[in-house]
Amino acid sequence: MDLGIRGRTAIVCASSRGLGRGSALALAEAGCDLVVNGRDVKALATTAAEIRERFGVTVTEVVGDVSEPKVQAELLSAAPTPDILINNNGGPPRRDFRELTRQNILDGVVQNMITPIELIRGLVDGMAERRFGRIVNITSLSVYTPIPGLDVSSGARAGLTAFLAGVARTVASRNVTINNLLPGRIDTERLWGGVPKGSSKDAYREQLLVDIPAKRLGTTEEFGHVCAFLCSIHAGYLTGQNIPVDGGRYNSAF
Ligand SMILES: NC(=O)c1ccc[n+]([C@@H]2O[C@H](COP(=O)([O-])OP(=O)(O)OC[C@H]3O[C@@H](n4cnc5c(N)ncnc54)[C@H](OP(=O)(O)O)[C@@H]3O)[C@@H](O)[C@H]2O)c1
Repeated sequence: MDLGIRGRTAIVCASSRGLGRGSALALAEAGCDLVVNGRDVKALATTAAEIRERFGVTVTEVVGDVSEPKVQAELLSAAPTPDILINNNGGPPRRDFRELTRQNILDGVVQNMITPIELIRGLVDGMAERRFGRIVNITSLSVYTPIPGLDVSSGARAGLTAFLAGVARTVASRNVTINNLLPGRIDTERLWGGVPKGSSKDAYREQLLVDIPAKRLGTTEEFGHVCAFLCSIHAGYLTGQNIPVDGGRYNSAF
């Protein structure tokens, strides 16, 4: 399917590895020029080079922590009139909520709620004026299904979801959509960071698959292609939604 976004410009936050990288690759495959981001210079350069070589699009690298206002300003100046924004970031560390300091909680809220809101605020009016905008926030299945130990992540992302539910309706008439993708157990480095002490990767995989109806982990390619579809011209009537990409793990009829 031609996604109809060839020549569009996309800012993809936290995109040197994992879900962000998968989304960047799928958007480049659809013909988008990209601004990519990550804190590790080498990892970002490797991903950017691969995208240029495979898809021949323009890729601008912005190194740094996307939660920092300076880095956000660099992202926006690298693409002053972007058509697409993919909000992504690292997730807070897994920790019992009793052990969290006030600062830990504030950092998580900045990372997974305030940062995407700030970026959207910086570019949504321009998208509305130009009558095209696609914003996808990579949140988590934990918005729907509690994951003990990831309470800051769940709370901050649920806050983001509620905050943007109203915003999405204010820009829909100008062909700007805002949707959330909820990953559940996609095969990335972060996922394997959860292997319990004393357990093996294989044993952990078995444990992870128990409640996934698809009986496998998702891939970053699958995730990226769902993301690119949400950014396509075909998804213009789809806004304010939460879409799990989880192999059916979210066990609900609605
Ligand atoms: N994988 C899953 O199944 C799953 C499920 C639910 C939620 N999520 C959430 O989805 C997001 C992405 O997860 P992932 O699995 O793709 O993780 P990952 O494999 O660890 O990749 C994270 C990417 O984000 C970059 N990054 C991290 N912190 C950053 C920061 N402060 N500023 C800029 N870039 C940053 C990393 O590069 P640098 O380290 O070089 O900065 C890397 O490119 C996370 O918030 C995670 O909690 C993932």
